[in-house]
Amino acid sequence: MAQTETAHATNFFLDGNFAPVSDERDAQDMPVLGEIPKDLVGHFLRIGPNPAHIFNEAAYHTFDGDGMIHAMTFNEGSAHYRNRFVQTEGFQLEQAHGGWLYKGMNSMMDPTPSELPTGAPKNKNLANTAFAYHNKTLYALHEPSQPTVIDLPELTTQGATNFDGKLKHPFTAHPKVDHLSGEMMTFGYAFQAPFVTYSVISASGELMHSTPITISKPVFMHDFAVTEKYSLFLDFPITLDIERAIAGGPALGFEPEHGSRIGVMPRFGSDQDVRWFDVATGSVVHTANAWDDGDNVVLQASRSKTSDIAGAGLNAENLEETQGQLYEWRINLTTGVVTERTLSTVYCDFTRVNDLHACHPTRYVYAAAFNPQRPFSFDGVMKFDNETQATTTFQYGANRFGGEAVFAPRVGATTEDDGYLVCFVQDEAAQQSECLILDAQDLAAGPVATIMVPHRVPYGFHATWVGDL
Ligand SMILES: [Fe+2]
Repeated sequence: MAQTETAHATNFFLDGNFAPVSDERDAQDMPVLGEIPKDLVGHFLRIGPNPAHIFNEAAYHTFDGDGMIHAMTFNEGSAHYRNRFVQTEGFQLEQAHGGWLYKGMNSMMDPTPSELPTGAPKNKNLANTAFAYHNKTLYALHEPSQPTVIDLPELTTQGATNFDGKLKHPFTAHPKVDHLSGEMMTFGYAFQAPFVTYSVISASGELMHSTPITISKPVFMHDFAVTEKYSLFLDFPITLDIERAIAGGPALGFEPEHGSRIGVMPRFGSDQDVRWFDVATGSVVHTANAWDDGDNVVLQASRSKTSDIAGAGLNAENLEETQGQLYEWRINLTTGVVTERTLSTVYCDFTRVNDLHACHPTRYVYAAAFNPQRPFSFDGVMKFDNETQATTTFQYGANRFGGEAVFAPRVGATTEDDGYLVCFVQDEAAQQSECLILDAQDLAAGPVATIMVPHRVPYGFHATWVGDL
């Protein structure tokens, strides 16, 4: 089904399938190549930036777009597609105003006055980055902000939550849920001290523990990791510098001289309990998982030599420097020795595991595989096996790009990888959006089902799987 594209030559992130869509739609009885498995039951949810009103297209930053959710609900071999804006306070204010009220991160110094109503939040909670599902509650997340509660299956927005007033810090887009204890661990980072604050939320949704974490200067700490015993903090050198931004430079900058270190703290520990371990300097945006192994703490993540997140990131000449590879740190808490190694040569990010095993040992890591020529573009999916050290990939094919693929356990699953990988793919030549379902035990075989979505699904950020219906 042909789609109409609006060309925005002024900005990579408003062009082609990065461009936003304006309509909220539903679709059922979509054409399918193959067969939707009957034992795939639940919601595949993908969120991303989808700006409704833009102050300055040339200056638009992809982090600034309003959150929009694209969902596929699977049940007994059928699929229901929905897309909905997250109805954040800022989005609703701009909709009522009929235009922009928030200028965006690259235009904060622009003197153009905003007609932001008195009393309105000064910054927009965009709810555009990732999800958490905890205590039967779905949250849409935006790391400077509070979580936004979303109802399934309709994707209606309940609103932001501060956990009965107990949440005093920004809430990462990548909290970790330990399904064995039921707890959710989270943190937030800030320009002002404390630069990092960490919290634990109980299985019943009560914020029960918070502590500041001291680091020397503010950094872009996008993700962290949690084991059964410890929480791990990544003090890596993507630094935040307001003075640099006011002077006309980027707020985010890669400063390798800052070094790289991993902090290890007991789950219910405090600042003074953190042990910091120096590691090779690099850039980590997303972790896959971490676990305890005797005296060791094992962390696996996508790591790159340097980072493009500070700049435009569109320099195709240095993609091998900025695209991550799956990497492991093994921290011996007795000897203090850290052993590091690259696990796979495939360039990848959006690292995921079977969420039911997060914080505990995992054999398999799934990730989106980078296209080597085009920035911010994934042209396949990979699976790494910690037991055999083998990487398996599936390439989407020419002019086909996808996003984060998430693991969905098969109903009645008996092993860690007994299930499916689900993702959205855009066939840019055919201008066709698709939802792919792959057998997680046989990625190379290609999709068991390809669902033709009759509406365009723009590229986005993170995805998740919610199996509870
Ligand atoms: Fe992320």
